[in-house]
Amino acid sequence: MSKNSQLRDSFGSKFGVIAAAAGSAVGLGNIWKFPYIAGEYGGAAFLFVYLAFIMAIGLPVMLSELIIGRSSRRNAFGAFKVLAPGTPWRYIGILGVSAAFLILSFYGVVAGWSVQYVILSVQDGFSQKSPDEISTLFTTLIESPIKPVMLQLGFMFATGAIVIIGVKKGIEKYTKILMPVLVLILIGLSIKSVSLEGAKAGLEFLFKPDFSKLTGDGILSALGHAFFTLSLGMGTLITYGSYIKRDNNLINTVISVTVADTLIAILAGIAIFPAVFAFGIEPSEGPGLIFITLPNVFHQMPGGYIFSILFFVLLTVAAITSSISILEVVVAYFMEEFKMVRKSSTVLATILISILGVLCSLSMGVLADYKLFGLNIFDLMDWISANMLLPIGGLFIALFTGWYFGRKKVQEEVANGGNLSGAMLTIFIFLVKFVAPIAIAIVILNKVGLLTFS
Ligand code: PHE
Repeated sequence: MSKNSQLRDSFGSKFGVIAAAAGSAVGLGNIWKFPYIAGEYGGAAFLFVYLAFIMAIGLPVMLSELIIGRSSRRNAFGAFKVLAPGTPWRYIGILGVSAAFLILSFYGVVAGWSVQYVILSVQDGFSQKSPDEISTLFTTLIESPIKPVMLQLGFMFATGAIVIIGVKKGIEKYTKILMPVLVLILIGLSIKSVSLEGAKAGLEFLFKPDFSKLTGDGILSALGHAFFTLSLGMGTLITYGSYIKRDNNLINTVISVTVADTLIAILAGIAIFPAVFAFGIEPSEGPGLIFITLPNVFHQMPGGYIFSILFFVLLTVAAITSSISILEVVVAYFMEEFKMVRKSSTVLATILISILGVLCSLSMGVLADYKLFGLNIFDLMDWISANMLLPIGGLFIALFTGWYFGRKKVQEEVANGGNLSGAMLTIFIFLVKFVAPIAIAIVILNKVGLLTFS
């Protein structure tokens, strides 16, 4: 064992690595965000573009991050300092740490809503209500100045507490058991949802593409979401990769995590869209989509009371296994770059992010009029991080792996347990050198108006 690996925490088992990375990937992004942005940008057409981005860009960038993390055994910033000393590559890490701040600030707010829905479920708060009343319930909650702020702070406190416990004990343990249960609940919900009257329109919306509905904004959101949902572009998987042992098969990890994450998002779509159409809700409803759709399904299901509690508990757990991975990016950076201990760096990061989070929460109500580019603070944090910082981070991570780190070192790093050779290696290098950076650049330049196609 090298000196470094003795000092650093690492994941205990192979399954633990996959569980932790999947725990990071599967979260509010799959169950809350995917349905609502797919609903906004036209359903199936959005889904197909998103899947294409996952395969052509997400997979190779994920492998790149794990390679960078494991070969450097450092945080998102330090990794580049070690692998490319004296070069500006390290600023990719700064971009990542900033993205972590912005993402966790609104993520904690949504997780807080989920906690409130656990409480409402326990109180049987949806059962006598019409779809309109359920919708009002949600709007009243998010606009109120105190409750969602308290819930968000509570959630951030829990996230910080788990991160203080550290990688192995804190992160691995929680993810292993709960993810399969979440999948079962989603399957149960999907079965109920597709059997509702009028469900067919929902399935068509999700699976029958009408590409004429695609817009530049829709394509950018699909790209941003491919990064967001796989936890890519900001160094989460560089950080987690740095805790992975040498003999782990990185290729297996990447494929398992991507497949699990994608299936769970599609499953969430199947659970939600048929019900959206059956209950006459607008698919483009926005961030409240799951909160105002699913309670209607629960109260028509046998065992709906229990289902509803379990669903929101697991949604909260899925959120926390992701939020700890976001916080860990900042904490590992503080610890290694500023020589802080885990506890104080976690406390500091949690406090700073929570303050921004309070503003995000209030922007749903009392601060709703403060807007930039037409977006309130919550939407702005989401938009800048997911649609700009993550893809830009991903672009540079791909360039770094393809052009700086290079084919030979990639092969060496991956060969420690997995295998990437011949055609596969060539395809991977081609994707990170050319396809991913060019595709990302085109989508972003198109959005900012520097490149137009018509
Ligand atoms: N992937 C997580 C989700 O889908 C969110 C996340 C984004 C986690 C970026 C880490 C980094 O909910």
